[in-house]
Amino acid sequence: MAFDSRFLAELKGRNPIAEVIGLYVGLKRNGTRHVGLCPFHGEKTPSFTVFEETASYYCFGCGAGGDVITFTMKYNNLDYLEAVRSLAERAGLALPEEEDRAGNFRRKKRERQYEMHKLAARFFYKTLMSEGGKEGLAYLTNRGIGIEAIKKFGLGFAPDSFDALKNHLQKEGYSWDEMLEAGLLAKNERSRHPYDKFRNRVMFPVFDLRGNVVAFSGRILGDGQPKYLNSPETDIYTKGNCVFGLHLAKNQKDGLLILCEGNLDVVSLVQAGFEGAVAPLGTAFTKEQARILAKYAKTVVVAFDNDSAGLKATEKAIRFLEENGIPVRVLQMSGAKDPDEFIKTYGKERFEMLLKSSKTPVEFELDKLKAGLDLKDTAMKVEYLRKAVGVVAGVASAVERDVYISKLAREVEIRSEAVRDEVERARKRKASAQRRQELKSGEQELKGTYDRVNPERAGELRGAKAEEMLMALLCKHPDLAGKAKERLRPEEFLTTFNRRVYQFILDEYGEASDTAMPVFAKAFDDKEMARISFFINTPILSGVPAAQMEDCIRIIKEEGAKKIDLGALSPEEIMKRLKGD
Ligand code: UTP
Ligand code: MN
Repeated sequence: MAFDSRFLAELKGRNPIAEVIGLYVGLKRNGTRHVGLCPFHGEKTPSFTVFEETASYYCFGCGAGGDVITFTMKYNNLDYLEAVRSLAERAGLALPEEEDRAGNFRRKKRERQYEMHKLAARFFYKTLMSEGGKEGLAYLTNRGIGIEAIKKFGLGFAPDSFDALKNHLQKEGYSWDEMLEAGLLAKNERSRHPYDKFRNRVMFPVFDLRGNVVAFSGRILGDGQPKYLNSPETDIYTKGNCVFGLHLAKNQKDGLLILCEGNLDVVSLVQAGFEGAVAPLGTAFTKEQARILAKYAKTVVVAFDNDSAGLKATEKAIRFLEENGIPVRVLQMSGAKDPDEFIKTYGKERFEMLLKSSKTPVEFELDKLKAGLDLKDTAMKVEYLRKAVGVVAGVASAVERDVYISKLAREVEIRSEAVRDEVERARKRKASAQRRQELKSGEQELKGTYDRVNPERAGELRGAKAEEMLMALLCKHPDLAGKAKERLRPEEFLTTFNRRVYQFILDEYGEASDTAMPVFAKAFDDKEMARISFFINTPILSGVPAAQMEDCIRIIKEEGAKKIDLGALSPEEIMKRLKGD
């Protein structure tokens, strides 16, 4: 899995970090630094920084950090090899031959998984349309799903058999192990052989955006547990990265997506002509799914179930979607538990009306505040106004704020100037509180990361800081590496993690002296990269680098001397050393 340093240096050289990250994150240049909103956590003030000098990035808000490879991995959800491959491709750089072979092997495996899923989907569909699928078809018909929708979504039926699919795929040349790995078979301690995972269920194929079947979700006929059985994660399927129905909905002309909870809501809505329907597939709606929707949606209307869980999920979905800059609306239903039931009960025209009258997130918030309050009651009115002002203060656009201010003023029968004053005051409070909060949570996260990656650091603060400063100097002045190697052995480092990094830097500079920066991503994981990225970007005060390095070395040696065998010293000696004189 290892690439040699020369190749990685070339790869990084041809993928300037600010340029690559700039494809995904809006960056503002400031000298050799570029600053933007962190893609890895929600924030309103930019703390995400890209450093040209060290070819790395660091977020002072959440502590995410690393180099261009780490970023590509994290942002696109790739493993190390895939990230290197994609960066190489981007830069038109050929991969070393051995890696290319390994890559081909993996690609082949994935291709066979796609192929198996396609065959399985066909098999389930054919079964649904045959004598053996009568029950499944009756179930769907009963729920109002017609043949056209069945075809459109490729719905099917898994027969009540432990080996129907297994035998079918075996005939097509696939091994049991392959089917097991693709999640189509299951196995337990009591079974000698793997058996069909999906049995006696209506099958919903899950498509990726290119139209490949990558997983299945199978619904039980009638009541029973679990209601849906889902494919496990495989080489071609990551939960939380797929959105049910999006392969169809993405081609929508008006870019209006309707996010609902259930697979059946999606099928039912599309059947009724609402082609933008999608659902998050089992798990709660994820940030990653929000990011994917952002690529295809002009607006997302959230139409979750009409219950308390749905309400909670709605709040979270609003947050994730807004973080990705998508305008959001909330559809509120009454008289039905979900869109599927609503359409069946009241028809599609009424649903169209709900869609047209869906609310903005702020209106949704205000409605929630109002619930159960009687605005004729003065105390309740004041209470409502106080909270409502806080909500409106959170609206970024002044024009929009004005709309809500007028609305609120009418609602509580107070002059809009008075409401406006309150809102502006709340905005000032909010801004400073938020900045404080962002800094605080950032610090906490950072502290947590330090402790995990380098647990000895807290107890060796002076020495550890000198170690880190020394390494920061080495990254910026590779020519000092030879001198450092002579003056300070890695064993003399006080903290294990920093020692590992120091050793790596010396090795890398030894191996490829023309490397501008050691390629840490090769040997360090995500959290470790973040830590490294933090300390190599710590500003170094102006001065002569060689002299600064000597200072660091002196401190490390001093701190090391303090640690020598205390058992061999007299108590007086120990006290003296602890006092530091
Ligand atoms: P629902 O229980 O609302 O299902 O779960 P539904 O699709 O609306 O089906 P009906 O109308 O009751 O028949 C919403 C979604 O949560 C996931 C499925 O993706 C489902 O569509 N889910 C639910 C599971 O993955 N497993 C379960 O056991 C239940
Ligand atoms: Mn439902």
